[in-house]
Parts: sequence; structure tokens; C-alpha cells
Amino acid sequence: MAAHPDNSPPPAGPPHPQAPPHPQAPAQGTPFDGSHTQAAAHNQAFWDERVPLHLASDLYDVDGFRVSLDSLRPFEPVEVGDVTGRRLAHLQCHIGVDTLSWAARGAAVTGLDFSPAAIDAARQLAADLALPARFVVADVYDAPDALGRGGFDVVYTGFGALVWLADLTRWAGAAAALLAPGGALYLAEFHPITQILDEHDGQRIIGDYFAGVPRRWHTAGSYAAPDAATTDNVTVQCDHTLGEVITAVAGAGLHIQFVHERPVTLFARAANLRRGTDGLYRAPDGTPRPPLTYTLRAVKPPAADRDTPLRSPS
Ligand SMILES: C[S@@+](CC[C@H](N)C(=O)[O-])C[C@H]1O[C@@H](n2cnc3c(N)ncnc32)[C@H](O)[C@@H]1O
Repeated sequence: MAAHPDNSPPPAGPPHPQAPPHPQAPAQGTPFDGSHTQAAAHNQAFWDERVPLHLASDLYDVDGFRVSLDSLRPFEPVEVGDVTGRRLAHLQCHIGVDTLSWAARGAAVTGLDFSPAAIDAARQLAADLALPARFVVADVYDAPDALGRGGFDVVYTGFGALVWLADLTRWAGAAAALLAPGGALYLAEFHPITQILDEHDGQRIIGDYFAGVPRRWHTAGSYAAPDAATTDNVTVQCDHTLGEVITAVAGAGLHIQFVHERPVTLFARAANLRRGTDGLYRAPDGTPRPPLTYTLRAVKPPAADRDTPLRSPS
């Protein structure tokens, strides 16, 4: 079940590209059997229209970012490591605040997104802040052709990206192709189980974890501007299990170093979650804790060390 990113209540925390599932009768969307081109056309129009809303939103707090130059979650720089002088590609970079956070930490950044409006906004923000950055309009599946193969030390992709992609094999292949040998893919995402949890108690499973087919949704507004009048309201999204994500990354020839599941998230997606002093949301002590987010790091081995794919057991 894919929860729509823009049907959530006004959040109290940082951006949350996915929304809580419906409490009693989980929304299912409509199965979508169109092409990627058709899905991308809907999704791009949707995101283009949301860019000015997000730039003006309290949620993205671009004015605050202009001062802090840091929108990353505390664990991300720790897990990625020192990026000084590293070539970092940010896939699905949206308006570029996370991309520019890596630039402020010394990385040579390239952000990619298929939304021209988002890339325009990111370029403007980089220029305003005099932060060196390259931003490219392209579909994430075309990233190796758009950005070049083997030229990055880090491929970063952040919260709310994978639900927009139906083909994780293609996505992981693109990420792997971008990396130089020894480079790392770092993924920070919402845990897919959160899509099927009751939004009131945050614990009860009320949806189908394995229902991951592309679905068509129709919602107005945005998670960052719920009351905004919008016209491009159709999206196509696809949930993926954690196993599917890990399998896609491993299948692209990357060596997985860790998958860290976390009991914290970026917003109050369920009523039981409380904001901590670190700005992250978690279930109260002593209550059951499902995983809410995860991070994954996987390294591209030198060519000589790449695995020969195992044959499936017969
Ligand atoms: C929820 S936002 C990602 C937020 C991001 N974590 C950040 O740094 O702000 C999802 C982004 O994915 C982009 N996107 C969706 N599908 C895409 C595709 N096929 N290729 C490139 N970008 C895509 C959208 O334009 C949007 O900017």
C-alpha cells in the first residue's frame, strides 16, 4: 500500500515526502499499468507545481537553511564519513537543500532531479549562498548518461525518493554505474513498514506490506502546504519492501556494509510519536517500537573483486 505523500496532516517537523497511511480503511490508490514515461510525466508535473510551495513553506525552512547550511539528519554525515573533496552525486535532489548541505561540508556536489522547477530552485539557492554545485535535469534511471559513469565517490539518495520508482533494479544499476571503484552508495529512507502502520497508535499493521505494485493517486496540496490549491495532482508511486531494496543494491554488484533500521523518523507520522531534542520523532519509552527509517551503505568493489553472480538454486 503506498500512502500518498501529500495527504498528510500538517507536520510539526522537517520535510516528510511520504504521508501516514489512512487509519481505518487504508487508501490503496489504483493499480497503474502504464509505462515509466507516463508515470514520470504525471510525477514531474506534480513535483514542478510543488516547488514554489516548498520554497515558501515553514517545513522546508529555506530561510533557516540559508543560515545553518545544514538540513541533514545527525546520523547521515557520521555514516557517510568525511566528504571533503569527495565527488558526491545526490539523486532526486528536489530543491537542493540536502545537496547543498553536503557542499557546505566540502563535497563537490552534483544534484539530479527530473523536475526543471526543482533544479532551477536548487541552482538559485546555490548561487545565493555562493556554494559550488552542479544541478542537472534528468530522470534518475538516466543518471549515468547524464552525469557520467564511474565519476563519483559517493552517491547519496535521501528520504522519500524510492517510492517514486517502480524499477529498483534499474535504479540500483544507475547508482552503481555512477560510482568509482571504492565509492559508496548511501541511502537514507523511510522504512517501508511505516506505510502499513495505523497512524493513531503507530504500531498496528493495517495494510499489506507485500502489495508493492505501481499505483495511481490523486491528491491536492502538498505535505509542506496542505491547503494550497494545486492542479497537477496525479502521481504514480510504488512501495518496496526492505528486502527488495537490499536485493536490488546487492544485485547491482555493490557490497553492502550495513543496513541500520532506526526507531526515529522526521515527522509525526503517527499520533504516538514524540519529538526529541534532536528534532527526530520516536515512540515513547516502554512502548513497542517498529522501525521508522533506515540507512544503507554499499561499496563498489574494484573490478577484479566484483562477484560473479551466483546461479539461483534449482
Ligand atoms: C520527496 S522528494 C525528495 C526529497 C529529498 N530527499 C530532498 O533532498 O529534499 C522526491 C524528488 O524525487 C524527484 N523524482 C521523482 N521521480 C524521479 C525520477 N524518475 N527521476 C528524477 N527525479 C525524480 C522529484 O522531482 C522530487 O524532487
